[in-house]
Amino acid sequence: MARRGSPDTRSLERRSRCDAPHGPGADDAGGVRAALERYRRHWEEHGFGVWAAELLATGELVGRIGLSYHRAWPDDPELGWLIDPAHTGLGLATEGGAAGVQYGFGTLGAGRLVSICTEENVESRRVMAKLDFTLHQEVPFEELGITLWVHARDSK
Ligand SMILES: CC(C)(COP(=O)(O)OP(=O)(O)OC[C@H]1O[C@@H](n2cnc3c(N)ncnc32)[C@H](O)[C@@H]1OP(=O)(O)O)[C@@H](O)C(=O)NCCC(=O)NCCS
Repeated sequence: MARRGSPDTRSLERRSRCDAPHGPGADDAGGVRAALERYRRHWEEHGFGVWAAELLATGELVGRIGLSYHRAWPDDPELGWLIDPAHTGLGLATEGGAAGVQYGFGTLGAGRLVSICTEENVESRRVMAKLDFTLHQEVPFEELGITLWVHARDSK
């Protein structure tokens, strides 16, 4: 499937590149390669996926933001984010997340988007609240032996 174009926002640039060295397993090369392979495969299978987040002013890679299907909730695209700790608290996840919402409802035509985190992840829950996601369901994620909080936002 052909890749769909990505929107721009004021201070973040997101591209269909899949080379952001962040995320679970980022401390070991094998984990990074496995994550990048997952991102690449998702782009190939679905025509959308995780974007690299770069500061427009400098081009610095500061994280990843984007929509993809989550193993714990395969029904709706999931909006996720990870920002380098050196750049948190500046509104970047919210800004990139808002572009993800626009992309999901506008370009992808999704009826519902979800965003998933654990109860303890108060920063992510705050970003979800700012983006008008509300708690939808708690689901067990047996792979990791944890409970995930699935937040949802429906298209108007
Ligand atoms: C979650 C994360 C992406 C947020 O990125 P960010 O760019 O700092 O997010 P924003 O600046 O847009 O918004 C963060 C909000 O959380 C709030 N916040 C930060 N720490 C908080 C805390 N301990 N308790 C409550 N709220 C907190 C901020 O004040 C801000 O809200 P505000 O705008 O109302 O003040 C970032 O912390 C991160 O990458 N965390 C690790 C990865 C992760 O958890 N990813 C999600 C997996 S589900």
